[in-house]
Amino acid sequence: LSAQAASDMPPMPEITGGKVAGNGQDYTIRVSIGTTKGGAQYRGAEYFEKIVESRSDGHVQVQLFDSAQLGDDLQAVSSLQSGTLEMTLPSTSPLVKMFPEFAVFDLPFLFPTTDVVDQVFDGDIGDQLLKVASSKGLVAIGWSENGYRQLTNSKHPVSSPADLEGLKIRTMQNPIHLDIWRTLGANPTPMSFAELFTALEQGVVDGQENPWITIQSSKFNEVQPYATETNHVYTPFITLVSKRYWDRLPEGYQQLLVDAAQDMSRYERQVSRTLNDQIKQELKDDGMQITELTPGQVAVFQKKLAPVYDHWRDQIGGQLIDDIRELS
Ligand code: PAF
Repeated sequence: LSAQAASDMPPMPEITGGKVAGNGQDYTIRVSIGTTKGGAQYRGAEYFEKIVESRSDGHVQVQLFDSAQLGDDLQAVSSLQSGTLEMTLPSTSPLVKMFPEFAVFDLPFLFPTTDVVDQVFDGDIGDQLLKVASSKGLVAIGWSENGYRQLTNSKHPVSSPADLEGLKIRTMQNPIHLDIWRTLGANPTPMSFAELFTALEQGVVDGQENPWITIQSSKFNEVQPYATETNHVYTPFITLVSKRYWDRLPEGYQQLLVDAAQDMSRYERQVSRTLNDQIKQELKDDGMQITELTPGQVAVFQKKLAPVYDHWRDQIGGQLIDDIRELS
C-alpha cells in the first residue's frame, strides 16, 4: 500500500464485548489468506486476530499466513476438511462445485451496489448461504469482501465486447466465469492465482480480472498497462473454519469466533470500499490506462451477457436470483 492509502485506512474499531471464559486450555488458529499483506482482506484478518486474542485473554492465538503460502483457496479449503488447517477466507467462486448456490455470486451484474451486497450479507440470504456452507467438514461463520472485479490486459484498451475478441483471459476456477468470457468473445483459461503473475509476465495469458486492491497489491499493473472498470462480478470472501477443529473448541470460544467474524466483516468492507477508489486513482497516477465505461457501454456488456443467466438459472436456483434482484 502507498503511504497515503495506509494513512487513509479506516482505524480498527474498539473491541466490544467482554472476556470469554474457555476451559483453561490454549488454542491456535492458523488462517490462510489468499491475498498479500496490506490489502483489505489481511487488514480485516488482523482485526479478527486482535479481537480473538484480546477477548480470550491470550488463550486463543491467531496466526495469519498471507499470499496463499499455505495453498490457494481450494487447497486451503481441502486442508480444513482434513483437519490440517484451522481457518481460511476464500473467494466463493472456486467453491461452486461443492456449493452450487454460491454461483449466484458469479452471475454478471447481479449486485449493482454495495447496498445490495450488505443486504445479502447481513440478512436472511447471507445466513442461509452460511448454513449451506456449514457442511462437508466446514463451518461457515461470516462474509467479507473481495469486491467488484475489473479487467486488465497487456494488449489494448477495452471498451466493448468487440475489443475482447481472442484475448486470453485468466479466470478463477469457476464455470460461470468461463462462460462469461466466452460469451463476450474472449478466450478464457482457468488458472490458480499463485501462477498468475508469471503467466501475465510471460504472455501465457493477456489479461485477468480482480478488484483494484488485488491488482495493485499483486503488482499486475507492472505487466498490464490497460484496465477497464467493468464491475462485471462482485466476489465475496467467506470465513470458513475446519469442523474438526470447531468441535474441539469450548462453546464460548465458538461464539467468540462467530462474533469476531461479524466484526471483521463490517470492518473489512469499510476498508475495502475506502481503498477501492483511492487505489484506482493511484493505479492511474502510476501510468495504468483505465477505461471508465459509460452507462451505455455497460449496457452493451449486460445485453451480451444475458444468455449466461439462461445457462445457469436452474442450477443456481431461480428463486435465489429473484430474491437478490428484489433488493435493488
Ligand atoms: O483471482 C482470484 O483467484 C481471487 O480473487 C483471489 C485474489 C485469490 C482472492 O481469493
